Amino acid sequence: MPRFRVLAGVLSAFLASGCGSAASSDSGQAGTSVPPEPTMINTVDPAAVDDLAVRTVDDRSSTRRVHAAYPAFGDDPELTRELTRRVHDHVGRFRTGDRTTPAELLVAWKLTAYSERTIGVRLRTREVREEGRRSAARTVWYDRAADRTIGTGELLAGPDGLDRLTELVERALREKLPSRQRDLALRGLGPDSPAMDSLAFSRQGNVIVEFDNDPSVSGTERRLMVAVPREDADPLLSPLGRSARDAAAGSPPQVVPNPADRTGDTDCAGARCVALTFDDGPGPHTERLLDTLAEWNARATFFVLGKNAEKRPEVIRRMLDEGHAVANHTWSHPRLTEISDEQADRELARTEDALARVTGHGSTMLRPPYGAYDDRVAGAAARLGLSLVLWDVDTRDWENPSPGPIARKAVTHAQPGSIVLMHDIHRTTVDAVPHILRLLTRQDYRLVTVPELYGSRDLLPGQTYRSNVPPAPRDRNIPVDE
Ligand code: NI
Repeated sequence: MPRFRVLAGVLSAFLASGCGSAASSDSGQAGTSVPPEPTMINTVDPAAVDDLAVRTVDDRSSTRRVHAAYPAFGDDPELTRELTRRVHDHVGRFRTGDRTTPAELLVAWKLTAYSERTIGVRLRTREVREEGRRSAARTVWYDRAADRTIGTGELLAGPDGLDRLTELVERALREKLPSRQRDLALRGLGPDSPAMDSLAFSRQGNVIVEFDNDPSVSGTERRLMVAVPREDADPLLSPLGRSARDAAAGSPPQVVPNPADRTGDTDCAGARCVALTFDDGPGPHTERLLDTLAEWNARATFFVLGKNAEKRPEVIRRMLDEGHAVANHTWSHPRLTEISDEQADRELARTEDALARVTGHGSTMLRPPYGAYDDRVAGAAARLGLSLVLWDVDTRDWENPSPGPIARKAVTHAQPGSIVLMHDIHRTTVDAVPHILRLLTRQDYRLVTVPELYGSRDLLPGQTYRSNVPPAPRDRNIPVDE
């Protein structure tokens, strides 16, 4: 029996033990590559797939609100039928029963693999009820040659392939997670358990399994994921499983990652990461800012105004080329809570269109101007697939006449997982950035984009994110999310 090595692919295990001591010997230089997070599921840009449309179920009219989105593949109608059936079944179950208490269902999707032979679609569901939230992930695998969906068991070789993989997952849980959440996960684990239907692959070919989570039972919203290393998982895969792995791990040439959703390769579960964000641009000082960021190998997130993006498309392209994330800050900077639904939709959609014209892609994040949002704004964002990204560190750069105080505010208040708010339309802000980068780099921080800061946690449409700062020390033994 080979000795199986198990990666520490459990986010909560990193956070429970990692903060404070996370600065490893190689983390001192800005931009130094660290291996990607072992549980990071590879995704493929749907824009590169011909004849792919997005279908939605959007119902905000009753106490049971639904926002579901899933892909429809023109070339693979059987897969489309299966996805439609699964999503509508879930929506149907959600709508039945007690309708007097408010609840919300979100269904989001990602393309986890796409090749001539195999397609993988991951559906993430999140139910928000008074008693708590429940989340789950399932991956639908599809054999394009046979025009049929592939059961998880068929991805594995022999009659006991699934049992053996389940054993490896169980071992990973036991070794890496000394917590109540582990015990709960172990209790529900078996070859037929829903967790095994989430099976996906990382870019390196590790097998990733994600557990369903009900925080009212587990006491945490943290996603529990396990990575079985490629060298241990490969011998267990069937020919179908290997083709699924290849479709996920090595994207075919026509498929490129969505630059608007770039996550970089920094493992923020193990390193000290901060996301610098710049709003309201691009403006006359933005290119100088890009020069500075390049000099320090720092990545940032730009929440741009659509009207400015349209004026400076070459700057937007440069941002993406240099590894930064570009996202939506509305077209003209209104307070979204004070305008009509139609106006808000238009502010967001017009900016998405402008970004798509420049980059070929829309964005995945919205920063509402003034940080002003409510349920209506969250709904408008969800309809366009945007998550709401706020901040935990406000430099108040707009009221500061000189760079010194801006840099001090950013550096004093930043902690691992912080999102720092700045504005690249101000000369003084751009002047402050070299100081910020010098001071943060000296403290072993890595400057990353917002998606990179969250690593393999999906940023869900319509949900709000302020920082990925780990929980307070007293909570360390019970991983807690958000
Ligand atoms: Ni703004």
